[in-house]
Amino acid sequence: MDKGGSSVLSQDLWEEAITLFAGGVNSPVRAKVQPYPFYVRGGQGAYIFTEDGNAMVDFVLGYGPLFLGHNPPEVRRAIERQLERGWLFGTPSRAEVELARKIRVHIPSMEKMRFVNSGTEATMAAIRLARGYTGRTKILKFDGNYHGAHDYVLIDAGSAASEYGVPTSAGIPGEVSKTVSVCPYNDLTCASRVMSKEDHAAVIVEPVMGNMGVIPPKEGFLSGLREVSSNTGTLLILDEVITGFRLSLGGAQEVYGLRPDITTLGKIVGGGLPIGVVGGRRDLIDSFTPSGPVFNAGTFNAHPLTMAAGLAVLDQLEKGWPYRVAESAAKVFVEALEESLKLPHVVNRVLSMFQVFMGISEVVDAQSAKKADRSLYLKFHEALLREGVFVAPSQFEAIFTSAAHGSEVMEEVAHAIRKAVKSLA
Ligand SMILES: Cc1ncc(COP(=O)(O)O)c(C=O)c1O
Repeated sequence: MDKGGSSVLSQDLWEEAITLFAGGVNSPVRAKVQPYPFYVRGGQGAYIFTEDGNAMVDFVLGYGPLFLGHNPPEVRRAIERQLERGWLFGTPSRAEVELARKIRVHIPSMEKMRFVNSGTEATMAAIRLARGYTGRTKILKFDGNYHGAHDYVLIDAGSAASEYGVPTSAGIPGEVSKTVSVCPYNDLTCASRVMSKEDHAAVIVEPVMGNMGVIPPKEGFLSGLREVSSNTGTLLILDEVITGFRLSLGGAQEVYGLRPDITTLGKIVGGGLPIGVVGGRRDLIDSFTPSGPVFNAGTFNAHPLTMAAGLAVLDQLEKGWPYRVAESAAKVFVEALEESLKLPHVVNRVLSMFQVFMGISEVVDAQSAKKADRSLYLKFHEALLREGVFVAPSQFEAIFTSAAHGSEVMEEVAHAIRKAVKSLA
């Protein structure tokens, strides 16, 4: 891997990019790195290498997918093998059957599934499926949960939790947002009240919130949702786009002992190539076209390159060690932080995903997360960058570890964390 810098530096690229893209980027969080984003020319293991010739230990990992780190040889070889045979046929391929078989072994609630191309597509298809199957229109979501960039889910809570949500984006028809109820995360009373009307097609939830920093579910929250949704004919959609294959081979539903009606996956299961999966009860998934009336289609669905990459990743994850390494790395990171950070703070960690909230002692939902000192978090992010460590440039993203964050790298990182924290004082 060429780790050297190039003659075109990040600043040059950025200056051109702002003439080409809205805000200079193709996904908004990327613009948050100050004074301009660094441009990455490659990655290897736990490291990324910038156009400016810098190496950084990466805890963003493409916002979660790269559980084996950058450029793992097994995944690269699987992609290369598929590339040699060609990469798009518009017909079924063997790899899609093999990947689905593996997914079902590890996540038995996904009796059948449909491959799509992103987490956004997966949750959109899941919600349409729930509406088509139940004949109900409304859905319930939780304040601060992110399920992608489509109209059905870009709804925030406001304070009146069980009332209709407010769109988080311009351009979403009021008619659409009125179909979405919003409750605070971890508030089972609110969720039960909304579902008791028996007019909601589905409740969609992140089993561990990973889009407001990291917020774990309170004891009884997920099982309560399962019970109330079953009792009210509301389908439970577990959005495991982040947690699927990150928390364990069986995802959050294995960790928390839950059987949702529908599961959405993305990120890790595509090995870093674009993917989404919507799966669940056989009778539900059979409602998709062509066996049922709920339309879904896609030129790139079950893309052969993605299927090959996904299979190669799962082969590695099945060996177990990637989970051990990623979790130890997360522990080392958090310990170094806890040890050096003297100001009030709380770290929420679930296995290999975590986030620190400063100036506050407890974060259980979106409203409490918003009370954290976001500008101090950004200072921490910037101080870490100066020490060669890349964590998400937003308080409301998660910090992820991978199987490539071995003990040697983490020793270096622990040292960087101590230095970065000192500079905050
Ligand atoms: C829980 C969750 N669901 C859905 C999505 C949307 O996935 P994508 O960005 O692949 O469209 C995300 C993205 O971060 C996510 O975190």
